[in-house]
Amino acid sequence: MTEFDPRPALDELRQLETLEALEQWRVKHLGDKSALRAALGGLGQLPPEQRREAGQRLNAARQQLQEAHDARKAELTEKTVAQQLERERIDVTLPGRPIARGCSHPTIAVIQEISDLFRRIGFQIIEGPEVEWERYNFTKLGIPPEHPARDLTDTFWITDKMLLRTHTSPNQIRAMERVGKPPIRVLVPGRCYRNEATDASHESIFFQIEGLMVDDRTTMSDMMGVLTYMARGLFGQQARTRFRCDYFPFVEPGAEMSVSCGQCSGGGCRMCKYTGWLEILGCGMVHPDVLRGVNIDPARYSGWAFGLGVERIAILKYGVDDIRLFQQNDMRFLRQLG
Ligand code: FA5
Repeated sequence: MTEFDPRPALDELRQLETLEALEQWRVKHLGDKSALRAALGGLGQLPPEQRREAGQRLNAARQQLQEAHDARKAELTEKTVAQQLERERIDVTLPGRPIARGCSHPTIAVIQEISDLFRRIGFQIIEGPEVEWERYNFTKLGIPPEHPARDLTDTFWITDKMLLRTHTSPNQIRAMERVGKPPIRVLVPGRCYRNEATDASHESIFFQIEGLMVDDRTTMSDMMGVLTYMARGLFGQQARTRFRCDYFPFVEPGAEMSVSCGQCSGGGCRMCKYTGWLEILGCGMVHPDVLRGVNIDPARYSGWAFGLGVERIAILKYGVDDIRLFQQNDMRFLRQLG
């Protein structure tokens, strides 16, 4: 059988709409098992005088099918790409999906703000260990074992010599030991731990910032000036500061500093317990015995130090009424301040 009519295959080809159907068509009409291939295979049985003419006819039919296939393939490919582009079309003029912006935790934001204020006046920001030796937390700060001041704070003990630091003041000793020779100007933010019941203004884990300056002629009025500069940087230029005597074993004289209440401008309100003042830190001149303990001669050098509660500042700045909110990771609270 060497007869072959390409027209039914060409009619079929015109109906095809997909590249997959086209491939099936190619296998059926141009593949090894196609009628055309069978007809070509039958050429050998023809008498030689007919073979040439039949061969030309079949080859012409094959070429016709092949060309029709290629043309249809080009059309369908173009159509498929066009459909795909239409399907995947992106309107680049549409507004983008909003990306939630993160924000600093209020405690960290206050630490950064205070660090920036002190960096500007030449202080170095450093860190110290949270797990501390008892001698750094107490003894070298003038609080030997059996000293009543050890009872001022309830301590989380790890061993009888090691504890979770109850304040950042051990870093006064660490900084002086490390630097050795004044001048020393450091700021040490960090977590502190006290084994005490929590309430609206007390947490067992909270942040303090310790500041220390030691130089040959630094005075209490330098300290008051620097701390007033900090208070105005934090609460505005109208803020006023007040220093009153206080006792800490490692300073002499010791003081507490308050700032004028920003809520009532000193007139008296619930926030300042109707006093017009808010206490924010403890401070004082580094005790001569503490200086001597780190081989700094108190006859030649003087120093001052302060320690403030970071959450206490954040509470005042952001008007928060419970310190426990800072540790609860409630997104509604954190977003509100961000
Ligand atoms: C001290 O810890 C001294 N080391 C501060 C100091 C440093 C004095 C250098 C002199 C020279 P005090 O125990 O008062 O002092 O704590 C300082 C601040 O830490 C407090 O004013 C308060 O804001 C904060 N603070 C203390 N205990 C807690 C607590 N349980 N929860 C939250 N904040 C606290």
